[in-house]
Order: sequence, then structure tokens, then C-alpha cells
Amino acid sequence: MSEERVALISGASRGIGDAIARALGAAGWRLSLGMRSPQLPHWADQDRVHLFEYDANDRSAEAAWVERALSKFGRIDAIVANAGIMIPKNVIEADDSDLDAMLAVNVKAPRRLVAGAWDALGKSGRGRVVILGSLSGKRVKSAGAGLYSISKFGAVALAHGIRHAGWDLGIRATALCPGFVATDMARALTDRADDLMTDPEDIARIVAMLLDLPNEASVAEFTVNCQLEELY
Ligand SMILES: NC(=O)c1ccc[n+]([C@@H]2O[C@H](COP(=O)([O-])OP(=O)(O)OC[C@H]3O[C@@H](n4cnc5c(N)ncnc54)[C@H](OP(=O)(O)O)[C@@H]3O)[C@@H](O)[C@H]2O)c1
Repeated sequence: MSEERVALISGASRGIGDAIARALGAAGWRLSLGMRSPQLPHWADQDRVHLFEYDANDRSAEAAWVERALSKFGRIDAIVANAGIMIPKNVIEADDSDLDAMLAVNVKAPRRLVAGAWDALGKSGRGRVVILGSLSGKRVKSAGAGLYSISKFGAVALAHGIRHAGWDLGIRATALCPGFVATDMARALTDRADDLMTDPEDIARIVAMLLDLPNEASVAEFTVNCQLEELY
């Protein structure tokens, strides 16, 4: 049945979201891709890949996206809430507007997207939600990651809240928590070479696996790291 399933992926224009879209497309998923500047990826077949102009700062966008995806495909089986921003400020130098900006994209928009698709995910019988958290949602590694961590702890909690709310409907939710992944976001933060960071394609393989697991193999959190740390 997996060839019939439909996934919505936010922030699919580049980085981790682009890699996830490609992997799920290759695995037979039909996709609705949320992008600020929609462009059909070169690998995509437009009968199977739908584009929606999605800005996580537009509070009406999620409901509209869900409606358009349902009118194109008739079902939604998975949400991959990937769009995210990182403002590298510590918790003292930052102000409320920095925190508001990260909470808006990293926590509030994913919640609205999943809530908007809730009935469809329940109808699927095996609805899946992957929230891109971060290892910054598990620990505060440095001062400069402090503010981002607040938002990613929130994103991890969101995934747990969805898992609890959706259990009886067959909805399973995972907080996916990587360390550095070789994308624009990480390159702006570290001098680490790409080949010493996690490859976005490996994150994409993990997402494909998480979406495929049966209801009886719920994965609440999945951490992945390119370097040794005490716990992760
Ligand atoms: N890279 C890492 O080391 C790392 C580690 C842990 C977790 N993560 C998380 O993984 C997710 C993907 O990160 P990435 O590394 O792929 O980042 P990236 O290369 O910076 O890409 C970010 C993606 O999010 C989209 N986006 C940003 N703001 C948006 C908005 N307001 N509305 C809609 N889309 C928006 C971007 O769209 P545009 O192309 O339009 O800008 C882009 O597609 C994020 O949630 C991030 O926090 C990343």
C-alpha cells in the first residue's frame, strides 16, 4: 500500500527537507511539498508531487495547505514538519522578537499543520508525524545554542504531545533529533567539513524507516549524531 500513501513535507526546498522529499518519492510516496518559493524538484513527477506555497509565518497557511493536498490526493498519511530556523543568540543577548520568531516556525507552525491534518491522519489508520527536533531539543550544548534550544525542546515536547493525543487513532509521532547535518544551517554555525557532519540523505533514510514502521513499533524519539557526546 505504501505507493498510495501521501506525505506533506514542510521546508522541502533544500537541506534536510529536500533530501527527505527525494527519499520518500523514491520509496513510492505521493508528496505535497511546502515551500516558500515552490519549484518542482528535477526528480519529481508532477502527478505524484504537489507543490504548495507555504510560509510558516502565515497562520492561515497550514489549513489551506491541508485542504489543497486533500483535493489533489484525497488522503494524508504523514506529516514531516521540517521547516525550521536557527537564530544563534544566547538567552541573555536575545530579545523577545528572536524567541518569538523561532517559536513561530519551529513549534507553532508544526502544531497547526498537524492539527489541520488530524482527521485525515486518523482516517489513515496509520498516520505518521515526524517533527524535526534537534539534539538542541535534548541538551543545551553552548551559550549560542541556548535560544534555539528553547524552541527545539518545545518541538520535542510537541512530538510527544501528538503521540499521546493520537495513539488511539493509530497516529504515531517521532521527535527526530540530529546533531550537525551538512546543510546551509549547520554550515553557518560550524567550520566542520561536510563529510564530518551527518549526511541529509541519512536523515532521509531514517524518516522513510520511521514512516514505514507499523503502529506497534512506535519510536518516540530518534537521536543521531556525527560526534561523540556523553549521552548522544
Ligand atoms: N542542519 C542541522 O545541523 C540540523 C540539526 C538538527 C536539526 N535541524 C533541523 O532540521 C530542519 C531542517 O534544517 P536544515 O538543516 O535543512 O535547514 P536549512 O538548510 O536552513 O533549510 C531550512 C528549510 O526550512 C525552510 N524555512 C525556513 N523558514 C521558513 C518559513 N518561515 N516558512 C516555510 N519554510 C521555511 C527553508 O525554506 P527557504 O528555502 O525558503 O529558506 C528551507 O527549506 C530544521 O527544523 C532544523 O532546525 C537541522
